[in-house]
Order: sequence, then structure tokens, then C-alpha cells
Amino acid sequence: MKELRTIWWEKNHVVIIDQRLLPHKLKYLKIKSYREMARAIKEMAIRGAPAIGVAAAMGLALAVVNVKTNNHEVLMKRLEKAAETIRSTRPTAVNLFWAIDKILNIAREAQSRENLKEKIINEALRIAEEDIEVNKKIGENGSRLINDGDKILTHCNAGALATVGYGTALGVIRAAYNQGKKTLVYASETRPRLQGARLTTWELIREGIPVKLITDNMASFLMQRREINKVVVGADRILAKTGHVINKIGTLTHAISAKYYNIPFIVAAPFSSIDFKHNVDEVIIEEREVREVLYIDNARIAPKGVEVCNPAFDITPPELVSYIVTEKGVYKPEELKELTN
Ligand code: MRU
Repeated sequence: MKELRTIWWEKNHVVIIDQRLLPHKLKYLKIKSYREMARAIKEMAIRGAPAIGVAAAMGLALAVVNVKTNNHEVLMKRLEKAAETIRSTRPTAVNLFWAIDKILNIAREAQSRENLKEKIINEALRIAEEDIEVNKKIGENGSRLINDGDKILTHCNAGALATVGYGTALGVIRAAYNQGKKTLVYASETRPRLQGARLTTWELIREGIPVKLITDNMASFLMQRREINKVVVGADRILAKTGHVINKIGTLTHAISAKYYNIPFIVAAPFSSIDFKHNVDEVIIEEREVREVLYIDNARIAPKGVEVCNPAFDITPPELVSYIVTEKGVYKPEELKELTN
């Protein structure tokens, strides 16, 4: 089975899997400019914190590749404009801002135009390759927390599709499975965008890893019956100062249930998802369009005139989190404040 790859660079353009079409169609999108990349991120053709970080980096590479002038100042201006556009796509996953800052720092150090162009492309490609390596390491570290026979709840999609490849939460599950541990994954559907139903089940079925789909409101009952005995999720941002975990809406509900039923709640994420700067009240939770709640597959499910709210992420406090698994090791949330970037 060929390993899934969500995004890659081809000569002067980028190719991504169009995740809006899964599980029905596996189609690829050719992205030729930073504006197209910004749209793909905003409309969630590509999604998942590490994947949008890499998409942002490659978007900035596209911004310089397609420019004719040799003037360093003009190129820097364009890069900064592209960075501003990409920054405004999605506010919550910190990886997006992390990757943009990395590219801008490299650009500021570059001397000539050729040098700048080459350096930016190389850095974007390096970030992409590093992502896969990091995920494998997360998988290895996290698999020690998984036992033979575990029945694991995961929420949203923190798999190969949410990264360049392999995945974070699903990377942990993949690694445990590859070690011969027999696990069963419960994928919660993840309303309103259904990343669990559409993407996680697709990824796991593709690899023969046993998975059962549940609706979001079934998880507590399955925990009560011990049909779920572990939770593994990804993160869009983890606050180093306090250990709060920001992830897909619905994560908090699972964490509260897991605490109540004394079930380990494990978060798997790369260091690029750790926010060393901000406090919890400074985090912007993306509010998405009401249509996502009002419709399922173009069928309206609520009456005209109803008011809707649609926060895309929630914030799980550290006291509900058992472990944070990263490529550098496994931590308790309160240990993060001792780490540096
Ligand atoms: O809105 P999405 O689909 O981009 O949200 C994705 C998630 O919340 C994932 O759990 C998170 O990004 C971790 S992905 C490794």
C-alpha cells in the first residue's frame, strides 16, 4: 500500500489532495499561486494543523517563484503581502504562523534574488519532509502508551491527511498497529465538517486498521461500558505556559467524559503545534460559516430564520489531559512550561 501524501512540490507548482471530495473521490489539485493556496486553506481543500503549516510555507515559495523582478526589496514586499494573505485564512492552528515565520526569517537572511528563491523553496521542502519524520517519532513515542486490545476513541482527523504523511494521533495508532498490537479505533464523526466520518475512517480502512464510526454523542456511553478505554487526539495549538489544548470542536466533551470515566486522554502533536507565547484568552477560535451547521451534504436540516453558532475548535484545560506526546518525548501538560522552542 502506497503511503498517503497530502501535499508535495512539483516544478513551480504544488499538488494537494482535495480533501473536500473524500471519501468519494481521491482527486488532486494543482496550486499555482499563493492566492490559490490561501483559498485552498480557507475552504479546507487542505486542512489539519501540520498540513496547513506546510501549505503556508509552500504558498510563500509560490509567491516568489512566480515573480519576474530581481529586485530584492520588491520580492520581500511581495513575500510579506503573501504572508499577510495566508495568515488571514485560518486563525487557530499555530503551525500556520510558525511556518510563515520560519520562511520570512530565512528570506530576511538571504542575499540575492536567486539565493532567496532557492532558500525559500528549500526551506518549504525541508519543513514538509521533516513533518513526516516528526510524525513517525510521535508515533513511536506514543505507541508505548497503547496496549494490545485497546479500544481507542479519536476525534476529527489527525492522520496522514492532516499532515504531510503518517499523522499524529493516527500516527500513534498506526505505530501501535504495526507493532502487532490489536486495537479497535472508534472514529467520532466530528460534526459539522465530518472529518472523522469522511477522512479518518477512509484512511484507516485503506490500511486495514480496524475502525468503527460513531456519532459524536455516542462516545460517553461507550466509555461507560468500557467499550472505549483510551482517547488519542491531535491538537491545533497547545499552550506551553498553561498546558491548554486547542483542538477540533467536540474534543472538550470527549475529555470531560474521559476524566469522569477515568480513561487516559492522550494528545499527540509536533513541537510546531506548541505555542510558547500566548495565554489562553489570546487564542482566536475560528468561527466558521453557519451553512456548515444548517446543511448536511446540501440538504438543509433546520428551519429558516434559526440562529446558529459554529466555533470550529474548543479548549481543553490541562487537568483533563493525561499525556502530551511529541517527537521529543511524552509530557504532562504542566511540564510544557519548562520547555523551550
Ligand atoms: O478544521 P480542521 O479539519 O483543520 O481541524 C483539524 C483538527 O482539529 C485536528 O485534530 C488537528 O489539526 C490536528 S491534525 C494532526
